[in-house]
Amino acid sequence: MSRKDPIHLENRGQSGARLFSPTAGRNKAPIGEVINQHIVHGAHVLEIASGTGEHGAFMCDLRPDIIWQPTDPNAESRASQDAWANDCAGRMLPSLSLDTTQPDWARELPSYDVIYCANMIHIAPWEAALGLVSGAADVLKSGGTFILYGPFQEGEDTAPSNLTFDVSLKSRNPNWGVRNLDDVKHIFSEAGFTHKARIVMPKENRTLIFTKSR
Ligand SMILES: C[S@@+](CC[C@H](N)C(=O)[O-])C[C@H]1O[C@@H](n2cnc3c(N)ncnc32)[C@H](O)[C@@H]1O
Repeated sequence: MSRKDPIHLENRGQSGARLFSPTAGRNKAPIGEVINQHIVHGAHVLEIASGTGEHGAFMCDLRPDIIWQPTDPNAESRASQDAWANDCAGRMLPSLSLDTTQPDWARELPSYDVIYCANMIHIAPWEAALGLVSGAADVLKSGGTFILYGPFQEGEDTAPSNLTFDVSLKSRNPNWGVRNLDDVKHIFSEAGFTHKARIVMPKENRTLIFTKSR
């Protein structure tokens, strides 16, 4: 992650350290409804690129049985995640600094039942996706679940809005872009994951479910 890159593409609200993402405010309920079905009882969940922390706080409210570990490379975002964690009765842990382009980011972490990552791999170089998947293979328990949310290119079926979004991302940073679904599935497969589901979400986003099969 380059220091000059913006870490989000919208105007966020703020109250103290707590940040409010209009997008997360809209998508946390539909995402929560879907991913709730893929989080086992009592799961320890690692979230990569937690942003404001609103997804984690929402899921801890929805699922009183889970422990949620938020992370982000950005200090202001981590402070916001810690502020949102005040609503979570200790089940949303203090945020960790984690950048998937850093080698061995998973080395010091315990193992997790679930890894969740939303809206990161298109606003980061492809190396961030490669690092995300290889680190996840190290840190996820065997049989664990990886949940990936965001926009994707799907060949001729790509939504026109995602093609436009891709052009706009690349004009900000040529290393960014809406990722090709087949490329994403390929790197998960190479790392020992099995693709289980592709769920159509509002605004032409997708939730992809993978399980770690070895
Ligand atoms: C658009 S925000 C998404 C935040 C949140 N997941 C959501 O959907 O609301 C993208 C986030 O990715 C983080 N990020 C960018 N590059 C990253 C990397 N290499 N490793 C981990 N996080 C990264 C940014 O700091 C930012 O918080």
